[in-house]
Amino acid sequence: MTPHTCILAPSILAGNHANLSESLKIIEDSGAPWVHLDIMDGHFVPNLTFGPNTVADLRKISKLFFDTHLMLDNPQNFIEPFAKAGSNNITIHVEPDYDIKSTLKEIRKLGCTCGLSLNPDTPAESLLPYLSEVDLILVMTVQPGYGGQAFRDDVLKKIGTINAWRTEKHLDFRIEVDGGIDPETAKRCHYEGADTFVSGTAFFNLENKKAFLQGLK
Ligand code: DX5
Ligand code: ZN
Repeated sequence: MTPHTCILAPSILAGNHANLSESLKIIEDSGAPWVHLDIMDGHFVPNLTFGPNTVADLRKISKLFFDTHLMLDNPQNFIEPFAKAGSNNITIHVEPDYDIKSTLKEIRKLGCTCGLSLNPDTPAESLLPYLSEVDLILVMTVQPGYGGQAFRDDVLKKIGTINAWRTEKHLDFRIEVDGGIDPETAKRCHYEGADTFVSGTAFFNLENKKAFLQGLK
């Protein structure tokens, strides 16, 4: 069993980028405690989104927990700007070549919780050196870069593996899933041990947003 209560983290990537404040209000009104902020650099992923200035302006109008997902080749250069902009959690990826341990430490030093993410084809074992240094593991259930992609079933097993390590090693990081998450795929991820659910397209399309997590309870 997961040690955490389930959290929904709607992704503003699927919102209206000409009116992000309205999208943020939709997320707040749903009762979700977190908002997921997808930051892309056009190198690590083939797409661009927004930067620290946008996050800082969203911070001025919201008290939600800001869950910032850095899909960047050089995340170490952007920790301070995103922490100062008001992020509460900052997640970095395990794939690029940089000093992951010191970047995780810097995130915590700046007062944020830290997350580590892995792409669908990256083996779970790549996380092993860092498991005791993170507050959250973000398991990508699509190849990052775009919203609206289909959930990848083949990642479910990896969630179970990470959950088993969490129990064996008496660790308490959250297990977050991101990509193609709707009430049905969230349930399947929860069964494997996920407790934190990013949802973009499905969340904004759902009529009854408040009911999203009810299926998990
Ligand atoms: C994908 C992003 C996701 C994205 C998920 O690269 O990391 O957070 O917003 O969107 P959906 O829920 O549409 O798959
Ligand atoms: Zn994301």
